[in-house]
Amino acid sequence: MSKKEAQLKKIKAEILKQNICPELAASAIQLVFGDGSAKAELVFIGEAPGKSEDEQGLPFVGAAGQFLNEMLAMIGLKRKDVYITNIVKYRPPDNRDPYPDEKATFLPFLRAQLEAIKPKIVVTLGRHSMECFLPGLQISKCHGQPKRYQGQVYLPLFHPAAALYNGSMRQTLIDDFMKIPAILKKINQEAKIIKTLS
Ligand code: URA
Repeated sequence: MSKKEAQLKKIKAEILKQNICPELAASAIQLVFGDGSAKAELVFIGEAPGKSEDEQGLPFVGAAGQFLNEMLAMIGLKRKDVYITNIVKYRPPDNRDPYPDEKATFLPFLRAQLEAIKPKIVVTLGRHSMECFLPGLQISKCHGQPKRYQGQVYLPLFHPAAALYNGSMRQTLIDDFMKIPAILKKINQEAKIIKTLS
């Protein structure tokens, strides 16, 4: 097991040991921690697991997840090449929105996941995920625009569930998604330049 995988395993064990959000934990079937590669360059962050995710213990495996898989394929990637997770790691009852205190309670664990993986880009899916990292921005204005904040590059995107059945939003999300390879290339070029000079 790699160092990054071991770190992720430890964070997952810590959530269980500390009995984080016990009411959510009691109403859900299981913890939905994350899925994919610990050495991913891209981390995708949604809001909270839904019914299918709760049943399978994996993030984004329902209809929104299928759409996410399709968009990954459009840029030549598979789920195993990236890392996918949510802010809140248990399904809220009846798919209600997670409460602010639930998001705040899980945020340090999400930050620890990012600290372990050290991705090149954090792709936030939907407004709630974006607001955790890029406060004060409006998704309608900044979707598809990479932002560097405190040394980390973020790409705010619309949520695939919101865009799934909305023709124009769906196309906008696909167009934004297709920018990922160029953004990644630019970040890698910058890294090369910095390496050469130092
Ligand atoms: N929506 C989310 O925000 N996360 C999931 O895992 C599935 C749907």
